[in-house]
Amino acid sequence: MNRYFCTLKKQFYYFLKTKDIYILGIESSCDDTSASVIYNGKVLSNVVANQEVHAKYGGVVPELASRAHQQNIVPVIQQALQQAKIDKKQLSAIAFTRGPGLMGSLLVGTSFAKSLALGLQIPLIDVNHMQAHILAHFIDEEHHKKPTFPFICLTISGGHTQIVKVTNYFEMEILGETIDDAVGEAFDKSAKILGLPYPGGPLIDKYAQEGNPKAFQFTKPKVGDLDFSFSGLKTAILYFIQKKVKESPNFIKENLVDICASIQFIIVEILMDKLKNAVQQTGIKQIAIAGGVSANSEIRKRLHLAEKHWGWTTYVPKFEYTTDNAAMIAIVGYLKFIEGDFSDISITAKARLKVTE
Ligand code: KG4
Ligand code: ZN
Repeated sequence: MNRYFCTLKKQFYYFLKTKDIYILGIESSCDDTSASVIYNGKVLSNVVANQEVHAKYGGVVPELASRAHQQNIVPVIQQALQQAKIDKKQLSAIAFTRGPGLMGSLLVGTSFAKSLALGLQIPLIDVNHMQAHILAHFIDEEHHKKPTFPFICLTISGGHTQIVKVTNYFEMEILGETIDDAVGEAFDKSAKILGLPYPGGPLIDKYAQEGNPKAFQFTKPKVGDLDFSFSGLKTAILYFIQKKVKESPNFIKENLVDICASIQFIIVEILMDKLKNAVQQTGIKQIAIAGGVSANSEIRKRLHLAEKHWGWTTYVPKFEYTTDNAAMIAIVGYLKFIEGDFSDISITAKARLKVTE
């Protein structure tokens, strides 16, 4: 065992004995630079710097994202420590997002985390971003119930759409996933067709509140019981809008709220159908959602109804832990820390990483 690990082992037992465990989480997988301090499972700070620079391009530009992370990472971490009212010397370990994500973005967080851990001589803990979205449910929060194992998690983000069976913190199995676009992309690309800025998901949600979800009908894709497909729906929406705008150039403006409500309705219908299939196949009625799209008000409403009508127990993350944030990275760091599960300092970022890895 090298010297770095010997020192770490001693420190690990010291921290466990004192029971004062402070984890700094660093997230930089896509276009948000975030840092968070968690003390014994409770969030002391969760600072997120969004990158406005991508809005005018209609999507994330990887090169610009990594440059913005470089600029943001030091002030974001300083702010997280300040808000937590702790000095960096009190930290027990540094947790960081190893992947999946954009390589240039991941490298900024990974390199920073490694240097900081080495400088402070404390453990380094690598975190899988997709596991972190799911395990954000285990952040200690007042009035927030934690899922009991086993549960089904519908992970819905800008890059992923999966149904995952979670047997334990780090025992996960993918039951189904998208064969093409992710659900967040379906929201964002539909919004782009309507001329809305990126990311359009929250805007579709906002306009949909005022609209009629049955105004326009779109068909559901035919794929395997627990798999998803959104690329056909996106094309159907594009052709529908093009045809309508040809007939009446003001069609989008005059019908925006109804179009948004109809798009949101069909997307949430597809998600709910797959969850019903998962419950039927596994017999598990503990249902959680995670990822950016779990902020959507319609899916939240439908899950609430499912509790009442079908006896499901549902777990919806607090709003600030839905889209990318470092608190979810720090909580996984905490769960791994108490197991003594540390990373070697030679670890590298990985752009492609399954939720099971
Ligand atoms: O998890 P996340 O922050 O980043 C990824 O790892 O992809 O998810 C971002 C996605 C975007 O596609 C965004 O449009 C979507 O989450 N999103 C929403 C809502 N809030 C964020 N989609 C629908 N309704 C929302 N309220
Ligand atoms: Zn994410």
